[in-house]
Amino acid sequence: MMVSKRTALVTGASRGIGLAVARRLAAEGFALTLAARRPEPLHEAAAQLRALGAEVTAVPADVSDEAQAEAVAGEHLSRYDALDVLALCAGTGSVGSLDDYPVRRWDRQFAVNVRSAFLLVQRLLPALRTAAARSEHGARVVAIASITGVTAEPGLAAYSASKAALISLCESITVSEGAQGVTATAVSPGYVETDMTAWMHDRLDPAAMIRAEDVAELVAGVCRLSRTAVVPNIVMTRPGPQLWRA
Ligand SMILES: NC(=O)c1ccc[n+]([C@@H]2O[C@H](COP(=O)([O-])OP(=O)(O)OC[C@H]3O[C@@H](n4cnc5c(N)ncnc54)[C@H](OP(=O)(O)O)[C@@H]3O)[C@@H](O)[C@H]2O)c1
Repeated sequence: MMVSKRTALVTGASRGIGLAVARRLAAEGFALTLAARRPEPLHEAAAQLRALGAEVTAVPADVSDEAQAEAVAGEHLSRYDALDVLALCAGTGSVGSLDDYPVRRWDRQFAVNVRSAFLLVQRLLPALRTAAARSEHGARVVAIASITGVTAEPGLAAYSASKAALISLCESITVSEGAQGVTATAVSPGYVETDMTAWMHDRLDPAAMIRAEDVAELVAGVCRLSRTAVVPNIVMTRPGPQLWRA
């Protein structure tokens, strides 16, 4: 068992915001367990991080599936006796009007965006408590939600509702576990330049979107705070008149 390093488990770590978070936490000296579905990009991301000196375990898995989420958590716990940071970055979304939106897409978004978070938090709570008991930082769950979980946007009912639920789950973690030093933070950005927003490029210049590295900077900042500083939700928007919109 290694107990000296702070450890983090990052989902959705093969690209986009999750990879930026993993890179940032690696730079802070965290040992990392990474998850995403497709093995090749995940192993490629892990190799990049190892080249920077990080200790990395990559676990290909669909974290919305109970057995696979269990496997990711189990892989972390086979190496470490605690978990300092659970960074929930896996997510999916799609656009469509309310009246004919397919219910299977609604279900998929809730499975990936919320159910996976619940599964991993439940399984890893004892390890988070162990880390919290010995760290001045406490232990943190940081979930990448969305500004649309704070204020709904047309065409994004399923995505917005799933992110609102994720923000609420973070609050529940904090009110249930905060006294033990385990707290949760939702990070709720507007459009971030990643593969997820490639479909927007004809409407919004990618250069005008938030950078994944800036989201990762907030995540790292929250993880540097002392255990008495609780941050329920951070909203991040782009310059311009939209303020509370993506
Ligand atoms: N981009 C934005 O504008 C934006 C804004 C606000 C919030 N967010 C949220 O930020 C998070 C990251 O978004 P992103 O823009 O970085 O997305 P992205 O570029 O599409 O990356 C998504 C990551 O999640 C993984 N993933 C997807 N479904 C998964 C599953 N079921 N199990 C395990 N891993 C899974 C993907 O790898 P595989 O495909 O191989 O699984 C990939 O590593 C998401 O929760 C998203 O909703 C994004």
